[in-house]
Amino acid sequence: MTSTVDIHIEKTKKSRVSEHDINNVPFGKCFSDHMFVAEYSDGKWQKAYITPYADVPMSYAMSALHYGQAIFEGMKAYKNDKGEVSLFRPIENFKRMNKSAIRMAMPEIPEEIYMNGLMELIRLDSAWVPSSETGSLYIRPFLIATDEAIGVKISDTYKFVIITCPAGKYYSEPIKVLVETNFYRAVKGGVGFVKAAGNYGRSLYPTKLAQQKGYQQVIWTDSETQKYFEESGTMNVMFVIGDTLLTPGLSDTILDGVTRNSVLALAREWGMKVEERKVSIVEVFEAIDKGTLKEVFGCGTAATIAQIIGIGYNGKDYALPPVSERKFSTRVDDTLRNIRKGKVEDTLHWMMKVS
Ligand code: COI
Repeated sequence: MTSTVDIHIEKTKKSRVSEHDINNVPFGKCFSDHMFVAEYSDGKWQKAYITPYADVPMSYAMSALHYGQAIFEGMKAYKNDKGEVSLFRPIENFKRMNKSAIRMAMPEIPEEIYMNGLMELIRLDSAWVPSSETGSLYIRPFLIATDEAIGVKISDTYKFVIITCPAGKYYSEPIKVLVETNFYRAVKGGVGFVKAAGNYGRSLYPTKLAQQKGYQQVIWTDSETQKYFEESGTMNVMFVIGDTLLTPGLSDTILDGVTRNSVLALAREWGMKVEERKVSIVEVFEAIDKGTLKEVFGCGTAATIAQIIGIGYNGKDYALPPVSERKFSTRVDDTLRNIRKGKVEDTLHWMMKVS
């Protein structure tokens, strides 16, 4: 899909970057100088602009607020030792955004608008990309339905927006998760495979209950049988049992994570046995008993690799092998960081330079 929409740029009069220690900010709370906006109405993308980051006027009747016709992406930009900025696999996020748009009956975003807006924005705000070892600029593209209308219907107007924020680690420590068998993240025929805003809203109550019991996150199970693991919190989940890397296969309840895909690609490149299929609770707990479960971790854009060191199930807590013994996920975490920070050759061509 192509588009000829020009991007009008209004730069900030005074950058706020020196007011923040961008290598040491909490995730998702400190926003960069500019934002990108594209507007859709009358069946087409009408205008695109970059302005200083600001609150915007909106109607309380805006349909995204009431019925959740809203989708988003998460991606990151990194700075290498020479100060050059690159994006990690941005095209994958662009493609997934449009998959989400189709499922939520929203207009697809032309690649030219998405990529040109993204590149211009990151170029303008490159001073906001942290240079620290574990820092990055988290990029949040999102698409919202903006009709001022309370009837339940497909909106006629939309805004596609990109905002960014410097970010460090999402989880500062390894996490403990509770196997959740009463509430579900996703159902067959639903929207679990796309990044619909409501997927995250519905997860908050079960997560709150798990946190009250001392866990940081839940590990979701399938809604039909409660026998299979699906995802953990907002991340895909992976297990190393014996010498095999296991992860739930893609379906309409599993998000096609860019980090998930990258971890699997590295594992295959390193000659590891990889299985993408249903992973049952029984086989994981049998492996814990036999001592063959070596690693459990979540993976996602915000968290990258989040080590899971404990699992609660049916009122019992199970300790998992210490992080210091986890060879595969440690190697993956180091390799991804080194590729992103330009410290090793990017043989898989994952980085896109922002010039
Ligand atoms: C991401 O990893 O980018 C996510 O979507 C998680 C987010 C909701 C913080």
